[in-house]
Amino acid sequence: MRTTSIADDYLWFCEQVKRKTGLDLQQYKRPQMERRLRSMADRVGAHNLEEYWAVLERDAQQFAYFIDRITINVSELFRNPEKFEELRQVILPQLRRLSSSLKVWSAGCSYGAEPYSLAILLEEMRPLSYQILATDVDESILSKAKEGFFAPEDMRNVSPEWKQKYFIQQGNRYQVKPELKRNIIFRKHNLLADPFETGFHLIVCRNVVIYFTEEAKDRLYVRFFQSLVPGGVLFVGSTERIFNYREIGYEMPLSFFYRKPAMELRRVA
Ligand SMILES: C[S@@+](CC[C@H](N)C(=O)[O-])C[C@H]1O[C@@H](n2cnc3c(N)ncnc32)[C@H](O)[C@@H]1O
Repeated sequence: MRTTSIADDYLWFCEQVKRKTGLDLQQYKRPQMERRLRSMADRVGAHNLEEYWAVLERDAQQFAYFIDRITINVSELFRNPEKFEELRQVILPQLRRLSSSLKVWSAGCSYGAEPYSLAILLEEMRPLSYQILATDVDESILSKAKEGFFAPEDMRNVSPEWKQKYFIQQGNRYQVKPELKRNIIFRKHNLLADPFETGFHLIVCRNVVIYFTEEAKDRLYVRFFQSLVPGGVLFVGSTERIFNYREIGYEMPLSFFYRKPAMELRRVA
């Protein structure tokens, strides 16, 4: 039964979600998203999306489950483009002063939009050399990442120039050119269980930890700190903040960028 006083409870629901989380469900195909939402509503005995929203408003656990179900694997190239612009203009030039060969980790890389975005920025900094480790706990999404296919919705923040330079258009899909894959290693890795490599100049972990407990997040940010070289930077998602960053030892040069202090900033010749 779907009786509600609201003319289109799907659109109304999307508006509530956007208001509360900033997540715009209307950018997803309605039939699939609506089916998912209505089946989640059924699961808790809600008769329509208005009732389901009332459940989510009063039950934090249900809300966390809902977010988990709808955002898992969601990504796009240059997600939050203004932050990628700061990465390009401010952070990467600083990291380049640390080394002429950058080691980067995209942790929770989903279907590859993030590591390929990083690869584009680093290709643009040639003759700098770089290696990107791209990891995710989900093996099936990693296979997709290795293929490097993207839908037009993933590409909205990619400039026409970079589209042309780094992608091959096939029908309405875009595939990354081989030169973008050359320096990326995709590997299965669980951030909550597996050992971490060290020696990273940049760690990008965005929109992954939102469902982790506070304790798990705290441990993770300490472990990232240990994996960075002095002067190295951790780049987090635009809804994520490390409140105790000073306690861990980070500096915050810009919001959502946390730096392990450099003992000595050496300029490479
Ligand atoms: C919402 S996507 C974020 C993708 C990308 N970082 C971005 O910001 O666009 C979250 C990804 O984190 C991965 N993930 C969830 N738990 C993880 C864990 N414990 N270890 C590694 N990856 C995890 C999921 O499989 C999913 O692909």
